[in-house]
Order: sequence, then C-alpha cells, then structure tokens
Amino acid sequence: MARSKIALIGAGQIGGTLALLAGLKELGDVVLFDLVEGVPQGKALDLAELSPVAGFDAAFAGTGAYEQIAGADVVIVTAGVPRKPGMSRDDLLAVNLKVMEQAGAGIAKYAPDAFVICVTNPLDAMVWALQKASGLPRHKVVGMAGVLDSARLRYFLADEFNVSVEDVTAMVLGGHGDTMVPLMRYCTVAGIPVPDLIRIGWTSTDRIEAIVTRTRNGGAEIVELLKSGSAFYAPAASAIVMAESYLKDKKRVLPVAAPLSGEYGFRDLYVGVPAVIGARGVERIVELELDRAERAQFEQSVASVQGLVDACAKIAPDLV
Ligand code: APR
Repeated sequence: MARSKIALIGAGQIGGTLALLAGLKELGDVVLFDLVEGVPQGKALDLAELSPVAGFDAAFAGTGAYEQIAGADVVIVTAGVPRKPGMSRDDLLAVNLKVMEQAGAGIAKYAPDAFVICVTNPLDAMVWALQKASGLPRHKVVGMAGVLDSARLRYFLADEFNVSVEDVTAMVLGGHGDTMVPLMRYCTVAGIPVPDLIRIGWTSTDRIEAIVTRTRNGGAEIVELLKSGSAFYAPAASAIVMAESYLKDKKRVLPVAAPLSGEYGFRDLYVGVPAVIGARGVERIVELELDRAERAQFEQSVASVQGLVDACAKIAPDLV
C-alpha cells in the first residue's frame, strides 16, 4: 500500500516539529509548505538527512507552491502569525483570517478529500474560517486545542500527585483561551475522579483551583518565557495524535474543536468537545451532562467563540 501523504501548511516552529514527529511515527510522506522561500526546503532536507539516523522511511519535500500538496490525506495548518508577549489571541484575528482564506483555497483545489486539522490561533474562529474558505465537509475539518489544554492539565495533575502522566486523564471543553472549561469531575487518576482525590486528602480545592488557572494560562506562560514565539512541542504532538487517529482509524476519543450541529444546544460553530476521530473524520460528538456551574462556564466560553466568529464574519462577509 502506498504511504499516506501529510501536508503541513506553515513550516515554522510547529510545522517543523509536526514533520519530525510524522517521520518518527512513520505516518507517511511529508510536504512542508511555507511562504518564506528556503525554509520548508531546508527543513525538509534536514529531516530527510535525519531519517537514516532515526531509522524511518518517509519522503520530505519543501515547497512554496500549493500544487505540491495534491492528494494529501491529512493537512495540518499552522500558517499564520504567532502571539507575541502581551498580545491576546484575539489580536491575531484579522491577520490570520487572511491566511485561512489562502490555505482554504489551496486545500479546496488540491486536497479536497483530506482530513484537515487547524492549529492557527485564535483557534476556534480560525477553524471555522478554514472550513468555510475550503468548503470541505464539516466533519473533515477540526481544530486542535483540547488535546493540548488537557495535556497541560494532565501534566500539572500528575506533578501534583507525583504519579505517572500515563495514569492521569483530563477533559477540557469550550474555546481555546481564558474561557476554556476544565471539567474536574471528568479528570481522573487511574479512574478516580479528582473530587474523590480531594475527599481522601491527596490534594485540596485551593491547589486544584491553582492548577485550573495555570492550565487556562498555559499558552501565555510559555509565551512569557520564550519572549519570541509560542509553544510548539506540545501543540505539534497534540495535532499528530489527531492525525494518527484519523490515518489509522483508531477512533480515539479526543477533545477537539468540532463543528456543532445542535449538540450542547449550539450549531454552526466550532467548539471544544470530546469527539471520536476515525477514518470518517469526526465520527461522533460525545455530549456530556454538565451540571449548572459547568453549563454556565461552557455557555460563557461559547459566547466568546461566537464573538470571534462574528468579528471574522464582519471582516470577511463572503465566508459566511
Ligand atoms: N501561507 C503559508 N505560510 C505562512 C503564511 C501564509 N499565508 N503566513 C505565514 N506563514 C508561515 C510563516 O512564514 C511561518 O513559517 O507560517 C509559519 C508560522 O510559524 P511560526 O511563526 O514559527 O509559528 P508557530 O510557532 O509554528 O505557530 C503557528 O500556531 O500557535 C498557533 O497562532 C499560533 O500562528 C501560530 C501558529
């Protein structure tokens, strides 16, 4: 069987790391696309030269021409401008909206059968714009945020309890930003929910609240440290998990920015919810029961996503 083809639109920090991880996991051949001449070509050659050392077979190509993504099975979009210190995700809106229009047109023309994962921020609005601009079926276009946000939460919880990250699960719903909704009832250590762990004295409500706040600020914490650019290792690994679930039809249940069609009471909007990712793309959305406080937080988060989408629709009315 021929290898799968993975097209990466944007060959920056996340794009390069995606290519490395796709190679190490032998997910398929990789095409790196970027506006900046030489960068995708240089990274592709560097990765090809790494392949004999790491011991995997994959072809790497770098390009500035959309036709090179032709027939891609998966397209991951990271093209855009990253956040700078002090800049909110929302400030990025207008600039990155234009980039989504270009990427969407390229995907529509050359890779209309692909499963598309958007990473560019502000995520929930950009994935909406990318689906509109590409015209691909809604279940074939998703956004990466929840896997990253819950990975951060999993790491903080594992650190708090001094247990393996492998035994910690976490669930973060809603938009990717300050209004995300970490659901502690659905976060567990080996199946034991965090509220039970508080009850048996493993931690306290105050410490969990601090962890929730740190998770909400997870992106900003790294931006402050790096000074230029934003997180890239964990975001890339998170998008690769989604690509792998699609390519291998693993049907993993992952929190992703998925298109709602009435689930949770909303429609025509991308919001972070648990979804089954398999060979058909988003195969099912899991509708969790939310208590009153969780529901209120979720609605507030959806309202902030709706605000961003409305702002996009104002800038680019043709998309709607
Ligand atoms: N078409 C193709 N590539 C583009 C375009 C475009 N219209 N505009 C920008 N790019 C490229 C840049 O040349 C750069 O190489 O996108 C790449 C972005 O890479 P980085 O600046 O290194 O950003 P990165 O850390 O990879 O983050 C990518 O994900 O976290 C989000 O919103 C954040 O925009 C950021 C994105």
